[in-house]
Amino acid sequence: MCGIVGCIVKEQAGRVLASGLERLEYRGYDSAGIAVVTDDGIRVRRRVGKLAELLDDFDYDAFDGKVGIGHTRWATHGKPSEGNAHPIQDDTGDVVLVHNGIIENYKEIREELEGKGHVFATETDTEVIAHLISEIMQGDDLEGAVRETMRRLKGAYAIVVLHRRLPDRLVGARRDSPLVAGIGEGEYFLASDIPPLLEHTRDVLLLEDGEIVSLTPEGVRVTDLEGNTIERQPKEIEWNLLQAEKGGYPHFMLKEIHEQGVVVNDSLLGRIAEDGTVRLPELDMDADAVAAIDKIVIIGCGTSWHSALIGKFLIEELAEIPVEVDIGSEFRYRRSILGPSTLVLAITQSGETADTLASMRKARAHGARTISICNVIGSTASREADGVVYTQAGPEIGVASTKAFVSQLIVLNLLALHLGSMRGKITREASKEYTDELRAVRGRVETLIERADELDPIVDSYKHVDDFLYLGRGINYPIALEGALKLKEISYIHAEGYPAGELKHGPIALIEEKMPVLAVATPGETYAKISSNIDQVKARGGEVIAVVADDEANPPMGVDHLIRVPRCRETISPIVNVVPLQILSYRIAVARGCDVDQPRNLAKSVTVE
Ligand code: AGP
Repeated sequence: MCGIVGCIVKEQAGRVLASGLERLEYRGYDSAGIAVVTDDGIRVRRRVGKLAELLDDFDYDAFDGKVGIGHTRWATHGKPSEGNAHPIQDDTGDVVLVHNGIIENYKEIREELEGKGHVFATETDTEVIAHLISEIMQGDDLEGAVRETMRRLKGAYAIVVLHRRLPDRLVGARRDSPLVAGIGEGEYFLASDIPPLLEHTRDVLLLEDGEIVSLTPEGVRVTDLEGNTIERQPKEIEWNLLQAEKGGYPHFMLKEIHEQGVVVNDSLLGRIAEDGTVRLPELDMDADAVAAIDKIVIIGCGTSWHSALIGKFLIEELAEIPVEVDIGSEFRYRRSILGPSTLVLAITQSGETADTLASMRKARAHGARTISICNVIGSTASREADGVVYTQAGPEIGVASTKAFVSQLIVLNLLALHLGSMRGKITREASKEYTDELRAVRGRVETLIERADELDPIVDSYKHVDDFLYLGRGINYPIALEGALKLKEISYIHAEGYPAGELKHGPIALIEEKMPVLAVATPGETYAKISSNIDQVKARGGEVIAVVADDEANPPMGVDHLIRVPRCRETISPIVNVVPLQILSYRIAVARGCDVDQPRNLAKSVTVE
């Protein structure tokens, strides 16, 4: 996610914007820029890298205007570079804007405008917005041009726009990406998040989807897509700065759990055609190349290894390609059988995990094609792979991975569908039905987040235990592993995930009176089996928490707690089933007074062996 700031102030707009960008640094970014309307036109400065690159030799006097915009970029389309940094202009230099989000139909708009003579300068999706506003704008009606542009755009966006001829005006708009307005003393602000506003005002207008906001020295006006004025009272924000960086949540991890509905949406954006077929051009593999694959090896560490295990089920089920899965630290030293007909998928949120990078380099040395499923554009993994499919989860700050995991599973579903379709294993109708179900995942995830309080009796029952066993079967066995990892890494309870069928091969010896065992028992061909495993645990005095479908008519008998989740296709169920397990581990860790965002001994990215 990018960071946006805009201001109409009495003086020193450059300094105000610089300070605002510093308040957004926590979000993670790869480049930044500022634009200010000055007496001799709009002055723009952009730099790749950290804010220091932009601000260390910043000439505040040259940027001493009243109106300006600023941006920290988390790249989604177009590599991190000064050329792709915002603020971005149209080819006349009249329209200058900053954007947070993803424009799904930017390619067709770009082709249309290039056909009309527009000359594009960046690799970004954002640039089409500047050209479209310039193309549409009549006279000085910047607000009307933004409104009409919104009607053309598909995707998620929050934008703030300047125009050379309108030195006393800012126009903002949003759809599926946050934008807030700050009401000061004769000074007005826009931002993608509250922190940049707090040093100026605590009176904030929260904009809704489809709304346009116009700032002038006289004040703030909010309108809808039809141009109707919307009367809305500002809210007074009580948060301190640190609370504001977390969006009012007590921890980044909780904020990121709550972002998962939007993340599901963003991970799907632009990747499902109207007819339900999957589009993954970044794979850069034609039908012959896909047909030539005789084996796929998926590599990851930690949570990304759990995604890899689920990826095996998905690809073998939907594309019928044999898949091996390996932990990065094992694969890199193993004698591997790889070659040009092996496709190696490296899953890594950070793109910097040493063992995963070493495994990728080994795979390439053996002549295998490597694709990285990564969340950070410009990361080492994204640069060294033959191709990269970005998870579009936005910056993940909590050490315990949540939204990145969910986005990895979305991408793996899309990848499996895409490979299956290209190998003739999936019809267009079947793909449409499947992708419709993927689109419904957002609502299911958000429902489970709303129902979080239902987990409190479980939290209260088990927040003081020392041991926890998680069981799952089939595609939900990795969810048992993930649930256990979440609990152990933030609450320090010794939790183990196991395939439920392994119970009798050892772990059942652990079961004693009141030992908590969580079993993922959602619909699937092994439901009866895991129900039997639950009976075995109960028979030995263990206490069982069963994750079952909302409408399960025959829930496992005698369990101590039920966690009900919306029923969905078995191959999609891990995305839904993991959410209550994330929330459960979070709430237990908080109850134990643990440092949820920075657990002891852990780093967000393990860049060394
Ligand atoms: C997950 O909650 C952990 N933070 C950790 O296991 C993480 O998934 C692992 O280090 C891999 O990181 P990566 O996805 O950035 O490669």
